[in-house]
Amino acid sequence: MKNLIDILDLSTEEIDELLKKANDIIAHPEQYREKCRYKKLATLFFEPSTRTRLSFEAAMYELGGQVLGFSEAASSSAAKGESVADTVRTVSCYADIIAMRHPKEVGPLVAAMAASVPVINAGDGGHNHPTQTLTDLLTISREQGRLDNMTVGFCGDLKFGRTVHSLIAALSRYENVKFVLISPEELKLPSYIKKEILQYKHLDYVQTTNLESVMPDLDILYMTRVQRERFFNEEDYLRLKDSYILTPEKLKTAKPDMSILHPLPRVNEISTAVDADPRAAYFKQVLNGKYVRMALIMKLLGVE
Ligand code: NCD
Repeated sequence: MKNLIDILDLSTEEIDELLKKANDIIAHPEQYREKCRYKKLATLFFEPSTRTRLSFEAAMYELGGQVLGFSEAASSSAAKGESVADTVRTVSCYADIIAMRHPKEVGPLVAAMAASVPVINAGDGGHNHPTQTLTDLLTISREQGRLDNMTVGFCGDLKFGRTVHSLIAALSRYENVKFVLISPEELKLPSYIKKEILQYKHLDYVQTTNLESVMPDLDILYMTRVQRERFFNEEDYLRLKDSYILTPEKLKTAKPDMSILHPLPRVNEISTAVDADPRAAYFKQVLNGKYVRMALIMKLLGVE
């Protein structure tokens, strides 16, 4: 495999291998310090990012490699009207691998077709976010000891939340995963994902607007931010932004070993009072993201 555009580009065996590798890196980081010596990663970010871009960069540095790139479209020639394809053909002359985030759904795919080096989708509009999914899978497996036989609640903006779309696709391949989709009416999971994944595979799922009513059932609670930048008008955003706010009070009925995940950034949807709860896994998730990206970079560069 040359690129990672969609999480389903990876087989479950390949995902298991990546998670295994990430766990090995966590256990023996010193063995990986030279793995990508003299290799360069380009991070081309046409949309804001803290964790995804910096975790890719930290990952490459920890592998002994180097990093170049830009963190906003305005500082690249995109601002002069250059196409994604031309930008990426150019960057292929300078770097061995590219991680790209783009506001358009097809941005990273177009890049992969034009590039002569591997391209990783680091988020494509309201569509997909496969490396966040690897992060989430590593976190779930480390926290719960498995990826099958569990009930996973997704809460918040399921319409525009690209991390949700990719994680549902990935989890749909494991045995006996039940999906609980918690959102306001206006922010429900897109029907194409329901049809092509949940219904097509006859998976067990329910939709609700009420988080409290399903809390006791969940093994994982995946909270998300309402994706302001994808809204057509500010009024709708303001009306919906605080639909769900997770508090210690609301967690009283949750399982004692439930894990709380969030891709971050959080705005208001998890009270900071929850951070001290042992079930809060979202900052461990941040760290896991660096290790799994190290594993992915090595795989795509063919480094043993
Ligand atoms: C997410 C994203 O960019 O989709 N953030 C991330 O990569 N960790 C989630 C979000 O922005 O809400």
